[in-house]
Amino acid sequence: MAVIPAAGLGTRFLPITKVVPKEMLPIAGKPLLQYAVEEAVASGLDTVVLILGKGKRLLAEYFRPDPHLENLARGRSADVEAFKELISKVEIRTVWQDAPRGLAHAVGCARSQVGDDPFVVILPDALIDSFVPCTRQLMDCYDLHRGCVIATREVDLAEVERFGILDVIPVSDRDHAGRVLRVISLTERPKPQFVTSRYGVFGRYVLEPAIFSCIDELRPGFGGELQLTDALTAYSREMPIYGYRFDGIHYDAGDKFGFVQATLDYALKDPALSVRLRHHLAAEDRVVRATSN
Ligand code: UTP
Repeated sequence: MAVIPAAGLGTRFLPITKVVPKEMLPIAGKPLLQYAVEEAVASGLDTVVLILGKGKRLLAEYFRPDPHLENLARGRSADVEAFKELISKVEIRTVWQDAPRGLAHAVGCARSQVGDDPFVVILPDALIDSFVPCTRQLMDCYDLHRGCVIATREVDLAEVERFGILDVIPVSDRDHAGRVLRVISLTERPKPQFVTSRYGVFGRYVLEPAIFSCIDELRPGFGGELQLTDALTAYSREMPIYGYRFDGIHYDAGDKFGFVQATLDYALKDPALSVRLRHHLAAEDRVVRATSN
């Protein structure tokens, strides 16, 4: 089962997020939320729990079949056909978060759906483009190293303040070519002078259900929110957590620059857009004109 938290306020995209949820903003014609659901399905999961909040009802609407509209586009839109196929492969459930109290609280809202099995968490604004879906990579790691697994990679020292950062020791693991790290603790957005590693947290997790009791015990942390990094630190005192150095390109699509980067790269990969976009970008004086305006 995949849990996709989508109840946040999206303040970095205000004012548009007053009326359009961040998770519905499209990258090359497809909403961020759809990429997250596609990743869950491509990873072999057939149930997705969306965590929704005030003003987010249309996220659930989006995944409901609409035979009338779909008939209008029949045979003319590959996107609609692909979308229909996607929703035929997955059951979408919704759970409501009463207020955006933080990521840990959002994940805690999924408890009644999750039961006693491990589950994955996919943050829709962390877009990861990879041959093997990042979530699948973590699930494969989990099969060999039982415990929570967190997608990670090193970030620049100047950037650590934007991430949750892992305190780690290496694990000898020939099967995963040195990609697995043992996590000792986590810190949410630390100052560069206080970090012991530069391994950041990248919006994909495999979590054991025991995480819910750690969430229950949490007090507000960074920004006054209930932080998943704090719940995981509490968990790591009792049970193992691993970091997995995932393969793939990550875009912070919750940030304007990352969103534009993702839009360009995904459009350049899309056969329906790439040729015209390449011509457009290659126009000799484009950058000069844009900077002189
Ligand atoms: P973010 O912190 O990136 O999203 O949370 P945000 O708070 O909506 O955005 P900004 O920082 O104000 O611009 C990552 C994911 O977790 C969800 C968000 O919707 C986003 O998909 N989230 C966050 C929740 O579901 N509930 C929360 O309380 C917080």
